[in-house]
Amino acid sequence: MVRTLSGIQPTGNLHIGNYLGALVNWVRLQREYESYFFLADLHALTQRPPAGQLRSAVRELAIGVLASGVDPDKSTLFVQSHVPQHAELCWVLTCLTPLGDLNRMTQFKDKSAQQPDNINAGLFTYPILQTADIALYRPECVPVGEDQDQHLELARETLRRFNFVYGDTFPEPKTAKSHAPRVMGVDGDSKMSKSKGNEIGLFETADETWQKLRGAKTDPARLRRADPGNPDICNIYSYHGFFSPPETCAEVAAGCRSAALGCVDCKKMLAVNMEAVKGPIRERAAALRAAPKRLDEILAAGAEKARRTAEETMTLVRERIGIRGEANA
Ligand code: TYM
Repeated sequence: MVRTLSGIQPTGNLHIGNYLGALVNWVRLQREYESYFFLADLHALTQRPPAGQLRSAVRELAIGVLASGVDPDKSTLFVQSHVPQHAELCWVLTCLTPLGDLNRMTQFKDKSAQQPDNINAGLFTYPILQTADIALYRPECVPVGEDQDQHLELARETLRRFNFVYGDTFPEPKTAKSHAPRVMGVDGDSKMSKSKGNEIGLFETADETWQKLRGAKTDPARLRRADPGNPDICNIYSYHGFFSPPETCAEVAAGCRSAALGCVDCKKMLAVNMEAVKGPIRERAAALRAAPKRLDEILAAGAEKARRTAEETMTLVRERIGIRGEANA
Protein backbone atom coordinates (compact mmCIF):
# COMPACT_ATOMS: atom_id res chain seq x y z
CA MET A 1 0.00 0.00 0.00
CA VAL A 2 1.34 3.44 -0.92
CA ARG A 3 1.86 5.91 1.93
CA THR A 4 0.60 9.35 2.76
CA LEU A 5 1.65 11.60 5.64
CA SER A 6 0.70 14.96 7.08
CA GLY A 7 0.95 16.99 10.27
CA ILE A 8 -0.74 19.78 12.15
CA GLN A 9 0.52 22.11 14.85
CA PRO A 10 -0.96 22.27 18.36
CA THR A 11 -1.14 26.05 18.37
CA GLY A 12 -4.53 27.68 18.98
CA ASN A 13 -7.82 25.98 18.33
CA LEU A 14 -8.68 23.98 15.24
CA HIS A 15 -10.67 26.06 12.75
CA ILE A 16 -12.71 25.26 9.70
CA GLY A 17 -9.74 26.19 7.48
CA ASN A 18 -7.78 23.31 9.00
CA TYR A 19 -10.80 21.06 8.75
CA LEU A 20 -11.65 21.81 5.11
CA GLY A 21 -8.10 22.39 3.89
CA ALA A 22 -6.47 19.40 5.56
CA LEU A 23 -8.53 17.10 7.78
CA VAL A 24 -11.26 16.31 5.23
CA ASN A 25 -8.48 15.14 2.92
CA TRP A 26 -6.84 13.05 5.62
CA VAL A 27 -10.12 11.26 6.22
CA ARG A 28 -10.55 10.60 2.51
CA LEU A 29 -6.98 9.43 1.92
CA GLN A 30 -6.91 7.02 4.88
CA ARG A 31 -9.19 4.69 2.87
CA GLU A 32 -6.67 4.32 0.04
CA TYR A 33 -3.26 4.91 1.61
CA GLU A 34 -1.18 3.62 4.49
CA SER A 35 -1.62 6.85 6.43
CA TYR A 36 0.56 8.59 9.00
CA PHE A 37 -0.79 11.72 10.67
CA PHE A 38 0.95 13.54 13.47
CA LEU A 39 0.65 16.40 15.94
CA ALA A 40 3.64 18.66 15.39
CA ASP A 41 4.57 19.61 18.96
CA LEU A 42 8.26 20.13 18.10
CA HIS A 43 7.24 22.72 15.53
CA ALA A 44 5.10 24.46 18.16
CA LEU A 45 8.22 25.03 20.31
CA THR A 46 9.13 27.85 17.93
CA GLN A 47 6.38 29.82 19.71
CA ARG A 48 7.69 28.90 23.19
CA PRO A 49 4.40 27.72 24.74
CA PRO A 50 4.35 26.91 28.50
CA ALA A 51 4.85 23.14 29.06
CA GLY A 52 1.43 22.45 30.58
CA GLN A 53 -0.31 24.39 27.85
CA LEU A 54 1.51 22.49 25.10
CA ARG A 55 0.67 19.12 26.66
CA SER A 56 -3.05 19.89 26.84
CA ALA A 57 -3.04 21.49 23.37
CA VAL A 58 -1.62 18.27 21.91
CA ARG A 59 -4.42 16.23 23.53
CA GLU A 60 -7.13 18.65 22.38
CA LEU A 61 -5.74 18.54 18.86
CA ALA A 62 -5.66 14.72 18.87
CA ILE A 63 -9.30 14.79 19.95
CA GLY A 64 -10.15 17.21 17.13
CA VAL A 65 -8.39 15.07 14.52
CA LEU A 66 -10.16 11.91 15.68
CA ALA A 67 -13.54 13.63 16.01
CA SER A 68 -13.14 14.87 12.41
CA GLY A 69 -13.04 11.27 11.24
CA VAL A 70 -9.42 10.11 11.32
CA ASP A 71 -9.84 6.47 12.29
CA PRO A 72 -7.05 4.95 14.43
CA ASP A 73 -7.83 1.52 12.93
CA LYS A 74 -7.00 2.85 9.48
CA SER A 75 -4.41 5.58 10.21
CA THR A 76 -1.37 5.87 12.43
CA LEU A 77 -1.91 8.95 14.61
CA PHE A 78 1.04 10.02 16.74
CA VAL A 79 2.78 12.89 18.50
CA GLN A 80 5.91 14.11 16.69
CA SER A 81 8.09 14.27 19.83
CA HIS A 82 7.31 10.61 20.62
CA VAL A 83 9.44 9.69 17.60
CA PRO A 84 12.99 11.00 18.23
CA GLN A 85 14.08 10.15 14.69
CA HIS A 86 12.38 13.40 13.50
CA ALA A 87 15.00 15.50 15.28
CA GLU A 88 17.84 13.19 14.20
CA LEU A 89 17.00 13.37 10.49
CA CYS A 90 16.37 17.10 10.82
CA TRP A 91 20.04 17.62 11.73
CA VAL A 92 21.25 15.54 8.78
CA LEU A 93 19.09 17.57 6.40
CA THR A 94 20.09 20.86 8.05
CA CYS A 95 23.65 20.15 6.91
CA LEU A 96 22.39 19.79 3.32
CA THR A 97 20.22 22.92 3.16
CA PRO A 98 21.69 26.17 1.80
CA LEU A 99 20.83 29.28 3.82
CA GLY A 100 19.62 30.89 0.59
CA ASP A 101 16.80 28.33 0.30
CA LEU A 102 15.56 29.16 3.82
CA ASN A 103 15.85 32.89 3.17
CA ARG A 104 13.20 32.59 0.47
CA MET A 105 10.53 31.20 2.82
CA THR A 106 7.67 33.67 3.16
CA GLN A 107 6.32 31.99 6.31
CA PHE A 108 9.53 32.86 8.14
CA LYS A 109 8.96 36.50 7.32
CA ASP A 110 5.29 36.34 8.38
CA LYS A 111 6.04 34.51 11.63
CA SER A 112 8.92 36.86 12.48
CA ALA A 113 6.56 39.81 12.07
CA GLN A 114 4.01 38.10 14.33
CA GLN A 115 6.50 37.44 17.14
CA PRO A 116 9.16 40.17 16.87
CA ASP A 117 10.40 39.45 20.41
CA ASN A 118 11.11 35.81 19.68
CA ILE A 119 12.73 35.41 16.25
CA ASN A 120 14.53 32.18 17.13
CA ALA A 121 16.62 29.96 14.84
CA GLY A 122 13.90 27.30 14.99
CA LEU A 123 11.56 29.62 13.11
CA PHE A 124 14.19 29.85 10.37
CA THR A 125 15.00 26.12 10.16
CA TYR A 126 11.36 25.08 10.65
CA PRO A 127 10.96 23.85 7.02
CA ILE A 128 13.90 21.48 7.47
CA LEU A 129 12.15 19.77 10.37
CA GLN A 130 9.08 19.57 8.16
CA THR A 131 11.21 17.93 5.45
CA ALA A 132 12.46 15.38 7.98
CA ASP A 133 8.86 14.68 9.11
CA ILE A 134 7.97 13.81 5.55
CA ALA A 135 11.16 11.97 4.56
CA LEU A 136 11.06 9.52 7.48
CA TYR A 137 7.86 7.95 6.15
CA ARG A 138 8.74 8.20 2.45
CA PRO A 139 5.16 9.03 1.44
CA GLU A 140 3.94 9.31 -2.11
CA CYS A 141 1.80 12.32 -1.28
CA VAL A 142 1.31 14.91 1.45
CA PRO A 143 -2.15 16.47 1.92
CA VAL A 144 -1.83 20.14 2.95
CA GLY A 145 -3.39 23.53 2.27
CA GLU A 146 -1.86 26.07 -0.12
CA ASP A 147 0.09 27.85 2.64
CA GLN A 148 2.40 24.81 2.80
CA ASP A 149 3.27 24.73 -0.92
CA GLN A 150 6.56 26.54 -0.48
CA HIS A 151 7.63 24.22 2.36
CA LEU A 152 6.84 21.18 0.25
CA GLU A 153 8.84 22.55 -2.66
CA LEU A 154 11.79 23.03 -0.33
CA ALA A 155 11.33 19.46 0.94
CA ARG A 156 11.49 18.11 -2.60
CA GLU A 157 14.65 20.10 -3.36
CA THR A 158 16.34 18.99 -0.15
CA LEU A 159 15.53 15.32 -0.72
CA ARG A 160 16.74 15.57 -4.32
CA ARG A 161 20.01 16.94 -2.93
CA PHE A 162 20.27 14.08 -0.43
CA ASN A 163 19.73 11.56 -3.23
CA PHE A 164 22.39 13.27 -5.37
CA VAL A 165 24.99 13.34 -2.59
CA TYR A 166 24.34 9.99 -0.89
CA GLY A 167 22.52 7.89 -3.49
CA ASP A 168 18.87 7.31 -4.23
CA THR A 169 17.07 7.06 -0.90
CA PHE A 170 13.95 9.23 -0.90
CA PRO A 171 11.06 9.47 -3.35
CA GLU A 172 9.91 13.02 -4.11
CA PRO A 173 6.71 13.65 -2.15
CA LYS A 174 3.85 15.09 -4.20
CA THR A 175 1.33 17.52 -2.79
CA ALA A 176 -2.13 15.95 -2.45
CA LYS A 177 -4.32 18.81 -3.60
CA SER A 178 -7.09 19.92 -1.31
CA HIS A 179 -10.58 20.88 -2.52
CA ALA A 180 -10.30 23.87 -0.15
CA PRO A 181 -6.63 24.91 -0.45
CA ARG A 182 -7.16 28.43 0.93
CA VAL A 183 -10.18 29.04 3.15
CA MET A 184 -10.58 32.76 3.82
CA GLY A 185 -11.26 34.21 7.27
CA VAL A 186 -14.50 35.91 8.31
CA ASP A 187 -12.79 39.24 7.60
CA GLY A 188 -12.89 38.21 3.92
CA ASP A 189 -9.41 39.74 3.44
CA SER A 190 -6.94 37.08 4.44
CA LYS A 191 -6.52 33.35 4.89
CA MET A 192 -8.28 31.91 7.93
CA SER A 193 -5.59 31.62 10.53
CA LYS A 194 -5.21 31.02 14.26
CA SER A 195 -2.89 34.01 14.49
CA LYS A 196 -5.17 36.46 12.66
CA GLY A 197 -8.23 36.09 14.91
CA ASN A 198 -10.46 35.69 11.83
CA GLU A 199 -11.31 32.05 12.34
CA ILE A 200 -14.45 30.00 12.92
CA GLY A 201 -13.45 27.36 15.46
CA LEU A 202 -14.35 23.76 14.75
CA PHE A 203 -15.58 23.26 18.32
CA GLU A 204 -17.47 26.54 18.61
CA THR A 205 -21.17 26.23 19.48
CA ALA A 206 -23.87 27.16 16.98
CA ASP A 207 -24.34 30.42 18.88
CA GLU A 208 -20.66 31.36 18.84
CA THR A 209 -20.49 30.57 15.13
CA TRP A 210 -23.54 32.68 14.42
CA GLN A 211 -21.96 35.68 16.15
CA LYS A 212 -18.95 35.33 13.82
CA LEU A 213 -21.07 34.86 10.70
CA ARG A 214 -23.28 37.82 11.55
CA GLY A 215 -20.31 40.16 11.38
CA ALA A 216 -18.62 38.42 8.46
CA LYS A 217 -17.89 40.39 5.27
CA THR A 218 -19.99 39.77 2.18
CA ASP A 219 -19.88 41.33 -1.30
CA PRO A 220 -18.64 44.86 -0.41
CA ALA A 221 -20.64 46.43 -3.27
CA ARG A 222 -23.93 45.21 -1.79
CA LEU A 223 -24.69 48.09 0.55
CA ARG A 224 -28.49 47.82 0.87
CA ARG A 225 -30.80 44.80 1.07
CA ALA A 226 -32.28 45.68 -2.35
CA ASP A 227 -28.88 45.81 -4.12
CA PRO A 228 -28.12 42.74 -6.23
CA GLY A 229 -24.94 40.97 -5.09
CA ASN A 230 -22.19 38.97 -6.77
CA PRO A 231 -21.80 35.56 -5.12
CA ASP A 232 -18.50 34.94 -6.92
CA ILE A 233 -16.78 37.56 -4.79
CA CYS A 234 -18.69 36.82 -1.59
CA ASN A 235 -16.84 34.87 1.08
CA ILE A 236 -20.10 33.62 2.62
CA TYR A 237 -20.98 32.06 -0.72
CA SER A 238 -17.62 30.29 -0.77
CA TYR A 239 -18.46 28.81 2.68
CA HIS A 240 -21.78 27.62 1.25
CA GLY A 241 -19.75 25.71 -1.34
CA PHE A 242 -18.13 23.71 1.47
CA PHE A 243 -21.11 23.16 3.75
CA SER A 244 -24.31 23.34 1.67
CA PRO A 245 -25.63 20.88 -0.92
CA PRO A 246 -25.40 21.94 -4.61
CA GLU A 247 -29.14 22.80 -4.83
CA THR A 248 -28.80 25.22 -1.92
CA CYS A 249 -25.70 26.78 -3.48
CA ALA A 250 -27.59 27.34 -6.76
CA GLU A 251 -30.55 28.81 -4.87
CA VAL A 252 -28.27 31.13 -2.88
CA ALA A 253 -26.39 32.30 -5.97
CA ALA A 254 -29.60 33.10 -7.86
CA GLY A 255 -31.17 34.79 -4.81
CA CYS A 256 -28.06 36.91 -4.26
CA ARG A 257 -27.86 38.02 -7.90
CA SER A 258 -31.54 39.01 -8.02
CA ALA A 259 -31.53 40.49 -4.48
CA ALA A 260 -34.40 38.11 -3.58
CA LEU A 261 -32.20 36.73 -0.80
CA GLY A 262 -30.70 39.11 1.73
CA CYS A 263 -27.27 38.62 3.31
CA VAL A 264 -28.70 37.89 6.78
CA ASP A 265 -30.96 35.12 5.48
CA CYS A 266 -28.13 33.75 3.37
CA LYS A 267 -25.95 33.62 6.50
CA LYS A 268 -28.74 31.93 8.47
CA MET A 269 -28.96 29.16 5.86
CA LEU A 270 -25.21 28.72 6.07
CA ALA A 271 -25.26 28.62 9.88
CA VAL A 272 -27.73 25.71 9.80
CA ASN A 273 -25.65 23.73 7.32
CA MET A 274 -22.40 24.43 9.15
CA GLU A 275 -23.92 23.25 12.40
CA ALA A 276 -25.02 20.01 10.69
CA VAL A 277 -21.30 19.27 10.12
CA LYS A 278 -19.86 20.77 13.31
CA GLY A 279 -22.47 19.46 15.76
CA PRO A 280 -21.59 15.76 15.36
CA ILE A 281 -17.85 16.61 15.49
CA ARG A 282 -18.40 18.42 18.82
CA GLU A 283 -20.31 15.42 20.16
CA ARG A 284 -17.59 12.95 19.16
CA ALA A 285 -14.99 15.27 20.73
CA ALA A 286 -16.93 15.36 24.01
CA ALA A 287 -17.04 11.54 24.08
CA LEU A 288 -13.28 11.38 23.46
CA ARG A 289 -12.59 13.93 26.22
CA ALA A 290 -14.50 11.67 28.59
CA ALA A 291 -12.22 8.70 27.71
CA PRO A 292 -8.65 9.91 28.32
CA LYS A 293 -7.28 6.36 28.65
CA ARG A 294 -8.51 5.48 25.18
CA LEU A 295 -6.71 8.55 23.81
CA ASP A 296 -3.49 7.50 25.57
CA GLU A 297 -3.77 4.05 24.00
CA ILE A 298 -4.34 5.42 20.50
CA LEU A 299 -1.34 7.77 20.74
CA ALA A 300 0.91 5.09 22.29
CA ALA A 301 0.05 2.57 19.56
CA GLY A 302 0.55 5.27 16.90
CA ALA A 303 3.97 6.24 18.29
CA GLU A 304 5.12 2.63 18.38
CA LYS A 305 4.21 2.02 14.74
CA ALA A 306 5.65 5.39 13.63
CA ARG A 307 8.94 4.71 15.47
CA ARG A 308 9.28 1.38 13.66
CA THR A 309 8.83 2.96 10.23
CA ALA A 310 11.01 5.96 11.10
CA GLU A 311 13.80 3.69 12.39
CA GLU A 312 13.81 1.69 9.15
CA THR A 313 14.45 4.91 7.25
CA MET A 314 17.05 6.18 9.73
CA THR A 315 18.97 2.88 9.58
CA LEU A 316 19.27 3.35 5.83
CA VAL A 317 20.18 7.04 6.19
CA ARG A 318 22.90 6.33 8.79
CA GLU A 319 24.37 3.70 6.53
CA ARG A 320 24.32 6.04 3.50
CA ILE A 321 25.93 8.98 5.32
CA GLY A 322 28.48 6.86 7.21
CA ILE A 323 27.44 7.10 10.85
CA ARG A 324 26.53 4.34 13.31
CA GLY A 325 26.22 1.87 10.43
CA GLU A 326 27.54 -1.69 10.14
CA ALA A 327 30.83 -0.45 8.73
CA ASN A 328 31.50 1.66 11.84
CA ALA A 329 30.52 -0.99 14.38
P1 TYM B 1 -0.83 24.14 10.40
O1 TYM B 1 -0.93 23.54 11.75
O2 TYM B 1 -0.66 25.62 10.29
O3 TYM B 1 -2.10 23.75 9.54
C1 TYM B 1 -2.55 22.42 9.41
C2 TYM B 1 -3.13 22.18 8.02
O4 TYM B 1 -4.23 23.07 7.80
C3 TYM B 1 -4.03 23.75 6.55
N1 TYM B 1 -4.64 25.09 6.66
C4 TYM B 1 -5.49 25.60 5.77
N2 TYM B 1 -6.00 25.09 4.63
C5 TYM B 1 -6.87 25.87 3.93
N3 TYM B 1 -7.25 27.11 4.33
C6 TYM B 1 -6.76 27.66 5.46
N4 TYM B 1 -7.15 28.89 5.84
C7 TYM B 1 -5.82 26.89 6.25
N5 TYM B 1 -5.16 27.13 7.40
C8 TYM B 1 -4.44 26.01 7.64
C9 TYM B 1 -2.52 23.82 6.39
O5 TYM B 1 -2.15 24.02 5.04
C10 TYM B 1 -2.11 22.46 6.91
O6 TYM B 1 -2.25 21.47 5.90
N6 TYM B 1 3.91 23.25 9.03
C11 TYM B 1 2.59 22.65 9.14
C12 TYM B 1 2.55 21.36 9.96
C13 TYM B 1 3.55 20.33 9.55
C14 TYM B 1 3.46 19.49 8.40
C15 TYM B 1 4.63 18.67 8.45
C16 TYM B 1 2.51 19.33 7.39
C17 TYM B 1 4.70 20.04 10.19
N7 TYM B 1 5.37 19.02 9.54
C18 TYM B 1 4.85 17.70 7.46
C19 TYM B 1 2.77 18.36 6.40
C20 TYM B 1 3.93 17.55 6.45
C21 TYM B 1 1.64 23.66 9.79
O7 TYM B 1 2.06 24.52 10.51
O8 TYM B 1 0.33 23.41 9.58
